[in-house]
Amino acid sequence: MGEILWVLNTGAMSETLLRKLAFAIPPETAHRLTIAALASGLGGSTPPADPRLRRRLAGLDFPNPLGLAAGFDKNGEVPDAILRLGFGFAEVGTVTPRRQAGNPRPRVFRLPRDEAVINRLGFNNEGFAAVARRLGLRPRRGIVGVNLGANRDSADRVGDYVAGVERFAGLADYLTINVSSPNTPGLRDLQEAEALAGLLSRVGEARARAGRSVPLFLKIAPDLDDDAVVAIVAAAIAAGIDGMVVSNTTVARAGLSDKAAQESGGLSGRPLFRRSTRLLARVRRLAGDRLVLIGVGGVDSAEAAWTKIAAGADLVQLYTGLIYKGPRLAARIVTGLGERLDREGMASIAEAVGSETDRWADSDPQA
Ligand SMILES: Cc1cc2nc3c(=O)[nH]c(=O)nc-3n(C[C@H](O)[C@H](O)[C@H](O)COP(=O)(O)O)c2cc1C
Repeated sequence: MGEILWVLNTGAMSETLLRKLAFAIPPETAHRLTIAALASGLGGSTPPADPRLRRRLAGLDFPNPLGLAAGFDKNGEVPDAILRLGFGFAEVGTVTPRRQAGNPRPRVFRLPRDEAVINRLGFNNEGFAAVARRLGLRPRRGIVGVNLGANRDSADRVGDYVAGVERFAGLADYLTINVSSPNTPGLRDLQEAEALAGLLSRVGEARARAGRSVPLFLKIAPDLDDDAVVAIVAAAIAAGIDGMVVSNTTVARAGLSDKAAQESGGLSGRPLFRRSTRLLARVRRLAGDRLVLIGVGGVDSAEAAWTKIAAGADLVQLYTGLIYKGPRLAARIVTGLGERLDREGMASIAEAVGSETDRWADSDPQA
C-alpha cells in the first residue's frame, strides 16, 4: 500500500519524503513489494520485551497487546517478519476455501487527507490449501491467528467456515470468524441473530471435533445498530466463543475530505477510530469479562492504542496506521505503552483495560 519504502528506510531520508515516494506507487503494487521486502528479511527492529505488557488470554501468552490486523498478509507469507517488527501477534487472511481473484481493479484507494483507506478487494486470496501448506512449514514461534471467510460464490457459506476451522485448528494459534467484510455481498447478514447462532454452533462443533480447543474469535462490523450488538454479544457468549474483534471497516462516509471518499468499499484508518471504539466499549459493557476483546480501527499511535485499551480492549490491532506511519510504528507503540504505564504508575497493562468503558460506550455516535 505504500509501506515498501518504509521497510527499506535505513534512516537516510526524511519520513515525509519517503511517504511521498511510497505514495507515488499504486497501492496494490506497493503492497506486493512490501510483502516481498518482508519475505526477504528486510525491516526487523524488534523492541526490547517489556514484561509489563504481557497478557495471558484464551490460553495464549501474548508478549505485548499489539497485533497486525487481517488483510495485510492475506496468504500467510510473512507472519514471522511481522512479529519481528515488534507486533505481539499477527492475523493472517482472510482465507477462503478456494482461491479467489476478488473484485476488479482499482479496488484500493488511499485518502491521504483523511489518513484513511477505502478497499473493496473482495477476499482475494490463494485459498485454504496454499495458506495451510505455508503455515505448516513455519516454526511455531509467536502467535499467529488465521482469519476465515467464505467464497463469494459458495452455495454453503456456513460450510466454508466449518471447513476453515477443520483445516486450520491445528495450524493456527487462534481463528477469527469474519462475517463483517462489506465486500462480499450478503456476508454481513450472517451477523443477524438467528443466522449467527446457527453459524457459531456449527463452528463450535467443528472445533470440538478437531480435538484441539483452538480459541475462536468473531469479527464484527462497526455499522451494527445498538440492538443488533446486544444480540450478537449474547450469541457469542452462549456459543462459547472466546472473544470478539471489534471492528472491521465501515461503509459510513461522514466527515471525509479526500476526493476518493465516494469510492465504494470499506473505510479504515483515522475516521474509523471513534465509531469502532464506541462499539468496542459497548461490547465490553455487555460482555463483562466473559469475552476477550481485540480493539481495531484507526490506531496509529501509542496514545490511540492506550485509548482502545481504556475503552475495553484486551488486545489491539492495526493495519491502516502502518500505511501512513511506516513499519516502525509497531515498535514505537509498544515502547509508548510501556512509557504510559510508567506515567500512570501501573504495574501491568491489564490494569488499564476498561478504565474508560462507560465514557466511550455512552459517547455520541454521531460525534
Ligand atoms: C487493504 C485492506 C484489506 C483488508 N482485508 C481484510 C481481510 O481480508 N479480512 C478482515 O477481516 N479485515 C480486513 N481488513 C480490515 C482490517 O483488518 C481492520 O479491521 C480495519 O482496517 C480497521 O483497522 P485499521 O483502521 O487499523 O486499518 C482490511 C483492511 C484494509 C485496509
